[in-house]
Amino acid sequence: MTTVLITGANRGIGLELTRHYAGEGATVHACCRTPSEARELSGIAGSVHIHQLDTTDHGRLGELAKEISEPIDIVIANAGIYGLPDEDQSFEKVSAENLSRTLEVNLTGTVETLRAFLPHARRSEGKKLVAITSKMGSIADASQGAVAYRVSKTALNMAMTCAAAELKGEGIAVGTLHPGWVRTDMGGPNGNISPEESAKGLAKVIEGLKPSDKATFTSFSGEDLPW
Ligand SMILES: NC(=O)c1ccc[n+]([C@@H]2O[C@H](COP(=O)([O-])OP(=O)(O)OC[C@H]3O[C@@H](n4cnc5c(N)ncnc54)[C@H](OP(=O)(O)O)[C@@H]3O)[C@@H](O)[C@H]2O)c1
Repeated sequence: MTTVLITGANRGIGLELTRHYAGEGATVHACCRTPSEARELSGIAGSVHIHQLDTTDHGRLGELAKEISEPIDIVIANAGIYGLPDEDQSFEKVSAENLSRTLEVNLTGTVETLRAFLPHARRSEGKKLVAITSKMGSIADASQGAVAYRVSKTALNMAMTCAAAELKGEGIAVGTLHPGWVRTDMGGPNGNISPEESAKGLAKVIEGLKPSDKATFTSFSGEDLPW
């Protein structure tokens, strides 16, 4: 049976990934900052274990990595922020606080999550590490605005590229996946796809991930993206 760990599992794409994998019969370790408020997550049927985790709390990450002793086939670092709320993210106006906090969550929190559960992936059959990134982190595709968010995802993409090269020899596959423009709190109501469509597509791409010295930078639909 497949075991999956997902961060930011209480809403948006993380919630739908949890629903998807639980529906497939997987054991899901669903992590969120405030389990007592995660009503939708608590209602998902199946083998879902809810854990408290703020991915910027490095002490808690270490504790949780010890609490979960079983191998984890697929580790999905999904938690992320667009930046500090209601702040201008133009190059001229983006604040130092916004840059730091967005990097703390989207880069450091994501990398630390994947590293904390790397030993669990190593011991598993599936051996997959996945970061949910964004097309907005593509330098080839970039324009203006959203500087804090874009920079955090570009940096994450580089970290995942290094991870792929480093871990290929151990048979560990590394995915750097864009979920599409999704109708969530972050994506807003005008997104192109529902969280369900995104989760289903991401799971299919994750299923096909293979160890490679280049990380996969792919959208939920399987389209390869320019770095
Ligand atoms: N939606 C899109 O169109 C889109 C497009 C490209 C990429 N993405 C990426 O997809 C991922 C999920 O996005 P989404 O649309 O589902 O966003 P969302 O609806 O805003 O949900 C974000 C999730 O991340 C969690 N989170 C934020 N900071 C955290 C922290 N420090 N520790 C633990 N959890 C934290 C949130 O928890 P709380 O409820 O506690 O805040 C929430 O569960 C993100 O990495 C995002 O950058 C989304």
